[in-house]
Amino acid sequence: MIILGIDTSCDDTSVSIVENGNNVLASLLSSQTDIHKKYCGVVPELAARSHLEMILYLIDEAMTSTKLTLSQIDSVAVTNRPGLIGSLLVGVCAAKGLAYSLNLPIVPIEHIAAHIYSVHLTNTVEFPYIALVVSGGHTIIAHVENHADYKVIGTTLDDAVGEAYDKIAKHLNLGYPGGPVIDKLALSGENGSIEYPVIMLEKENVYNFSYSGLKTAAVYQTEKYIKKGRSPTNENISLAFQKSAIEPLYQKTLAYSKESGINRVTVSGGVAANTYLRKKFSESKYFECYLPEKKYTTDNAAMVAGLAYHIFERDKTYDYGFECTSRILQKYKH
Ligand code: KG4
Ligand code: ZN
Repeated sequence: MIILGIDTSCDDTSVSIVENGNNVLASLLSSQTDIHKKYCGVVPELAARSHLEMILYLIDEAMTSTKLTLSQIDSVAVTNRPGLIGSLLVGVCAAKGLAYSLNLPIVPIEHIAAHIYSVHLTNTVEFPYIALVVSGGHTIIAHVENHADYKVIGTTLDDAVGEAYDKIAKHLNLGYPGGPVIDKLALSGENGSIEYPVIMLEKENVYNFSYSGLKTAAVYQTEKYIKKGRSPTNENISLAFQKSAIEPLYQKTLAYSKESGINRVTVSGGVAANTYLRKKFSESKYFECYLPEKKYTTDNAAMVAGLAYHIFERDKTYDYGFECTSRILQKYKH
């Protein structure tokens, strides 16, 4: 079954064609980084307009690059939640128009479920498992029962971990998005030269996260080091920062693994590209860690078309009447 997938949930326009859930025939992405970088964050109105300019071009390009004809497409899949509402609408309207004109089934896809699925594009993971989703918009520990059913165990009370990376990079004038540049600088950082607090929450928030204070804590702590006559380099700041950012992700995932008795863990979303995170989770003695290929960590439509295959195979029904929503549900069941 060949599915054309579309994701326009945030600031990347992506179109993909995937056969039978994991044979990726095309995965195209038009990045909007150049548009948003001068604001050090995504401007929703500009994102939606740029999706509108790119979407048809990318669909065309996907068809041309695979040498497929539209009659060979069996279904269309599209992200319809959660995300920036103006951005989602562009993808959903394009997908509905395409599917309706070709009389094809259409599958609406939840973006978090798609990030979780991205691991399956290149791995076989048995259910149930624990999924950690870490991106610019989300920091979630989920208990995954099957491709279309997960429960949120923990989430952020304020900022997402990727947002914290973007904020510290902005503070250091390192550009946007911050994650990749902090990741790279940290590789040359000196272990233990400086330290920032690790923000762990307790009691009812034992599986939740808080990242809104980490940048400020790092800034004050750096000032203290400077007052004591030390001058931390960007490399050392980056290494200390990401140790503090990743530690709660690891500790809380581990704690839920112990509580649930599930020792399979996946990590996905933009921050799952991080070198330090990938090493820390892969080297865990307590659970087996599965990671997506780096190209499938950030937003992409291959994960959308891949997941849609399993949902369509199971449900065999479809309906053009679905809408877009910006929110995430606590318990997801397709
Ligand atoms: O999944 P994604 O592309 O978009 C959302 O759904 O949010 O994630 C983007 C986030 C940004 O905050 C970016 O700074 C972060 O992922 N990111 C990274 C790395 N690459 C991207 N964070 C840490 N290390 C990286 N290598
Ligand atoms: Zn995403």
